[in-house]
Amino acid sequence: MPDLEIRNLHAQAGDKQILKGIDLTVKQGEVHALMGPNGSGKSTLANVVMGHPNLEVTEGQIIFGGEDITEADPDERARLGLFMAFQYPVSVPGVTITKYLRMVMNAHREERGEEPVSLKDFRRIVEEAMQLTAIPKQFASRYLNEGFSGGEKKRLEMLQLALQRPTMAVLDETDSGLDIDALNVVAGAVNSVKADSGMGVLIITHYQRILHHIRPDRVSIVFDGRIATEGGPELVEQLEREGYGKIREAFAPAGA
Ligand SMILES: Nc1ncnc2c1ncn2[C@@H]1O[C@H](COP(=O)(O)OP(=O)(O)O)[C@@H](O)[C@H]1O
Ligand SMILES: [Mg+2]
Repeated sequence: MPDLEIRNLHAQAGDKQILKGIDLTVKQGEVHALMGPNGSGKSTLANVVMGHPNLEVTEGQIIFGGEDITEADPDERARLGLFMAFQYPVSVPGVTITKYLRMVMNAHREERGEEPVSLKDFRRIVEEAMQLTAIPKQFASRYLNEGFSGGEKKRLEMLQLALQRPTMAVLDETDSGLDIDALNVVAGAVNSVKADSGMGVLIITHYQRILHHIRPDRVSIVFDGRIATEGGPELVEQLEREGYGKIREAFAPAGA
């Protein structure tokens, strides 16, 4: 079973050390929430797990399904079943979401040495994905170069999630942009895909809000590039009561 294991992970951007020894395991079929104050390194961790080229791992490992993927390129990670947030092209005139999704699917198939998907199969797969995520059909005929609101980007991302059926999804919920509709789309889609496929989820968030909709099995709190505390879902309620103040006091370097 492909667990995601992050061991003593150190990473830097340029010469700035951001991750300073992260240990974290996301088990297959589990929701693991990573919380922490702004600037603590949450998005950096997500980006390193996905193989972002601007981040350098200086120590430690990322193991997925027993395989060391610390140096694997992003495509290889996706092929192994790790979900990457949707990378939509900035602007491709005349290309609809449907057409784009088909291009992406065929690119993946070609990589695996498979024939392009037939139009009939593709229609069926997309329809299933739209049902699972409760995304209206009209959305798929939108053009990529029209630009997307934060909520629409989330719809696109969730559609991609339902199409890929990954074994592990890393979702960096940049919180601020999520209105209640987007929150419902994300929560509904993640819960349905998870129920359908048993994927593991690493959900990254500053606020507790989304964790009322996607219930975590485990919770880790990151502070200044390290895991300050790990526990069960009760940690979410504790944070709700106490905020990050206590953790800050306990882990901030003296005088900071
Ligand atoms: N590419 C980068 N270059 C330099 N510093 C960065 C880069 N990305 C993130 N940082 C810094 O690393 C720290 C952690 O950022 P981030 O991982 O985005 O935090 P979070 O997602 O928890 O809010 C911040 O101080 C941020 O300014
Ligand atoms: Mg972030």
